[in-house]
Formats: sequence, C-alpha cells, structure tokens
Amino acid sequence: MTNLPYPIRVESGSFAGLGGLVREVAPAHRYAIITDANVAHLYGKAAASSLGIDQADVLVIPAGESSKTRATWGWLTDGLITRGFGRDSAVISLGGGVVLDLAGFVAATYMRGIPIVHVPTTLLAMIDASIGGKSGVDTVFGKNLVGAFYRPNGVLVDPLFLETLPRNELRTGFAEALKHGVIADRHYFDSVVSAMTGVLNGAAAGESLTRLIEGSVAVKAGIVGRDEREDGLRKILNFGHTVGHAVEMLSGYTLAHGEAVAIGMTVESRVAERAGVAISGTAAEIRNAVVAAGLPGSVPRGMSADRILEVMRSDKKTRGGFVHYSLPRSIGDMAGSESGWTVAVKDTIVREVLL
Ligand SMILES: NC(=O)c1ccc[n+]([C@@H]2O[C@H](COP(=O)([O-])OP(=O)(O)OC[C@H]3O[C@@H](n4cnc5c(N)ncnc54)[C@H](O)[C@@H]3O)[C@@H](O)[C@H]2O)c1
Ligand SMILES: [Zn+2]
Repeated sequence: MTNLPYPIRVESGSFAGLGGLVREVAPAHRYAIITDANVAHLYGKAAASSLGIDQADVLVIPAGESSKTRATWGWLTDGLITRGFGRDSAVISLGGGVVLDLAGFVAATYMRGIPIVHVPTTLLAMIDASIGGKSGVDTVFGKNLVGAFYRPNGVLVDPLFLETLPRNELRTGFAEALKHGVIADRHYFDSVVSAMTGVLNGAAAGESLTRLIEGSVAVKAGIVGRDEREDGLRKILNFGHTVGHAVEMLSGYTLAHGEAVAIGMTVESRVAERAGVAISGTAAEIRNAVVAAGLPGSVPRGMSADRILEVMRSDKKTRGGFVHYSLPRSIGDMAGSESGWTVAVKDTIVREVLL
C-alpha cells in the first residue's frame, strides 16, 4: 500500500487477526505486549489470546505522557530481562503515541534491537506515530531528546479501536491530520475539515475516519519513504512542532500533544505570514480549522514568549543561533525547498506574534 519497506494494514476489524499478522512479519518465540493501563483494560486480554497466552506477556505502564521517560524505559527493559526474554523475542506496542514511542525505543535497544509490530489505538498514533520509525522518550530538557530511528516490522491499524477513544483524543488526532493537509495537499486539507466537522457533529464516523486514516498514512509514508532519517524533506512534518513542543513541555504536559501542535500550527503560520513566507490568509484558514476541531488556537494565558523562545532554542531545531521552522507558503505547499525545508526566523518576529 505504501513505498515503505514494511506493511501498514489499515482495515476495520483487523485486530482480530493480530496473531496471524505478527507471526507473518515478526516470527518470534515470545512476545512482549507493551501497553498502557487504559488500553490494557480494554484490549490487553484479546491481544494476548490472539498471540497465544503462553507466548505473550503483557507489560502495562501508567497512561499519559509522563510515562514517556528513561525511567519507564528502564522498568520495561528490566522487566524483559527478568522474564528471560531473549533475542528471539519481539515487541508488540498496543496503544497511543506514548506507548508506541516508548515501546519502539525498548525494541530498538533491547539486546541491540528486536523486532516490533505497532498496533496504534488512537487516531493520532494511527496516522502519525506508527509510521516512520521515530522512537524515543522525553527528558526534563525537552520532548523526544533521547531516541532512535527504528523501523517496525509491520503496522496494524484497526479503525474500530476509535469507538472507545474519548472524543477529546479524537480531536488531537485531527490536529496531525490537518498538518498533513497543510504540508502536502490542499484537497486533503479540505477533506479533513469536512470529515472532522461531520464526525464531531455526530455523523457516522466509521467510513470517513477510515478514509482519513488512509489519506494521512499516504501523506506521511510518502514523505518518510523519501527521507527516512530527516535529512531534508521529512522536516516538513515538523510544521507546528517547534512552538508546539515548547508549549507542550511548558504546560507540564497538561496540554495533549495534538493540542500543543494545534497551537503551534496557529502561531507558526502567523510567523510565516509575518516573515513574508506565506501568502496572506493562510494563518486565518489554519486557525479556523483548528478552532472547528475544538482545539486551542492560541498560547495559554500566562505562558511567556521569552520562556517559549528559550525552550525552542534548546530544542533539536536550532542551528547557528537561529531557530529553524518548517513553514507553509500556502495550504498544501511548504517553503524552504532550497534551504533544506526549514526557514531561519529572527526571534523578534516570533516574539511579535507571541505577544
Ligand atoms: N513517533 C512519531 O513519529 C510521533 C508522531 C506524532 C506523535 N508522537 C508522540 O505521540 C504522543 C501522543 O500520542 P497520543 O495522542 O496517542 O497520546 P497517548 O498515547 O497518551 O493516548 C491518549 C490517551 O488515550 C488512551 N487510549 C488510547 N487508545 C484508546 C482507545 N482505543 N480507547 C480508549 N482510550 C484509549 C490512552 O490510554 C491515553 O490516556 C506524544 O508523545 C507524541 O510526541 C510521535
Ligand atoms: Zn506530532
């Protein structure tokens, strides 16, 4: 289905065939299902029985971003060692982006790397975190600062998981889908706006969410398939994430990742207009879409511009004293093709937008 070297199966009801897919793409003697407490409660038993109860252990972490740490990574890897997991074992990540990022880093590092199959259960993880092989953990200095690129052996996306997903978590997934539209395709942006408006207003979700997942998977896989290690083009996926990661961290992770990205897209598109990069009207259209999704469209009151700038300067996107942003020229068209797909912007411009 994509140009990536591992299968991404998007199909309603495919979770029932987990055991079969896993044995095909990641044959192993034992499986460690890594999941969080909420997802374990809903789907942990079914996952274990699909793989065979005597071959699968379920390792459960507390839900939420605060689990995405080296401490939890240590607890999980110690757990695998004490249970006697060897090189002939594999990991199944079952959950949202937190579980996938963390379990990916466990798989990348355990015994120098064992196979992993991602089973995303949030919209955000289905359309974004499960694709492209970025794994890692947060540190007190910033998000995702320790990690590895690590290809999964396969990805199983079952849209039926979304039936139990709280509505607010659905919104945060829409933030990344809107991002895919902005960075790649005007038509796709419009279709996300209409699908999400329908779903949030109570229209039948199944079909339109499946199409949205397929659309976003195609955008993301198309980009990471051409630049897996973020040497250039892949940087456009960071639209909204330079400011986004800073506000997410400064909120003490009370903002969900998708909420922070929504704020980040709003601010960064205004920066793009003010810096003369984006055509006028781009920022307003992005903000309208964000607000229509019920996502926050401005920086939380009391969060200072100086602190945001300070955090951004210590993030991975700083070079030569300038913060580099992935900015749109218009919806569906990103700037910076001649400068490695980022644009250096003076702090003064960003400060003007933030104040
Ligand atoms: N690796 C990447 O390329 C990439 C891309 C985007 C985001 N991310 C990361 O993803 C993380 C955010 O992921 P997220 O938004 O999925 O958050 P999350 O993993 O915290 O999940 C959100 C909440 O939904 C619950 N949940 C998950 N599936 C459920 C279901 N089917 N039914 C009911 N409840 C369910 C979880 O227990 C959790 O409480 C961030 O850490 C972000 O940095 C990574
Ligand atoms: Zn993101």
